[in-house]
Amino acid sequence: MGARISLDYISHKFHSSGPYTLKNIEDSIEPGELVALIGRSGCGKSTLLHMLAGLLQPSEGCVRINSRQVTKPSAKWNMMFQKASLYPWMSVKENAALGLLFAGTPKAEMNAKVDSLLDMVGLHDKKDVNVQSLSGGQQQRVALARSLATEPEVLLLDEPFSALDAFTRTALQEEVPAICRERGITMVIVTHDIDEAITMADRVMIMSQNPGQIVSELKVGLPWPRRHMDADFQSLRDELMRSFKGTDSGLAGKQASSSPKSPAISAA
Ligand SMILES: Nc1ncnc2c1ncn2[C@@H]1O[C@H](COP(=O)(O)OP(=O)(O)OP(=O)(O)O)[C@@H](O)[C@H]1O
Ligand SMILES: [Mg+2]
Repeated sequence: MGARISLDYISHKFHSSGPYTLKNIEDSIEPGELVALIGRSGCGKSTLLHMLAGLLQPSEGCVRINSRQVTKPSAKWNMMFQKASLYPWMSVKENAALGLLFAGTPKAEMNAKVDSLLDMVGLHDKKDVNVQSLSGGQQQRVALARSLATEPEVLLLDEPFSALDAFTRTALQEEVPAICRERGITMVIVTHDIDEAITMADRVMIMSQNPGQIVSELKVGLPWPRRHMDADFQSLRDELMRSFKGTDSGLAGKQASSSPKSPAISAA
């Protein structure tokens, strides 16, 4: 079952005398909800995601997962990065099993779990090969299997598909939310790609920059799997693009300062 995430008035400065990187971020994400976070380069998306993962503490406010303040990383909330960060001297199976190994899972249980996950991510014939002989997309699938093996309540993704070819990216954009929905995992994905956000999320949060704030939100009420060519998909894309451009004009910034949590922009 997924976890509830609360962002409780998070503000952050990297240097005490410097400007705020994040300011007054207040929101909540329901168990099993799929959320995309979009914003311009440098607005603070990765900074916020690192806080959700317990890798960084905000200067003010806090992240709570199931009402508990997040103070350190946990196998219950796993993060996937742009690059798969696998151990190059290990096989696919050994890499996928790492989280379970650290958790002290008995060997038979570990093998069964990893086998079925590698089947699920389409690597059934690659289990014993060295990860260096895999393509980037296959490596990202190993990282996905490793992230899912510990049965996380939350999956955090930082531009996980941006280095992949279009076919692999499209497949994973469909598969990852399907897996999260089936297992009830709460997902937060950071992306620059508006289509990726609409393809994968129930709700899109839009961040402004200097300082990073969540200035508007868009609910995506489309059926699964999402199809880019559908008229509803395209009108949501237009709506999201307009909201996104509003962050440049200063309009969204004004909304955010009058109310820390701007009203959701409803789906077409
Ligand atoms: N460790 C750090 N020390 C000082 N400043 C930092 C540090 N990490 C990030 N920053 C600054 O904080 C701001 C937000 O960075 P962050 O990496 O969160 O942006 P982002 O939205 O993820 O960008 P991108 O889309 O390019 O990945 C940037 O101005 C960056 O230079
Ligand atoms: Mg980033």
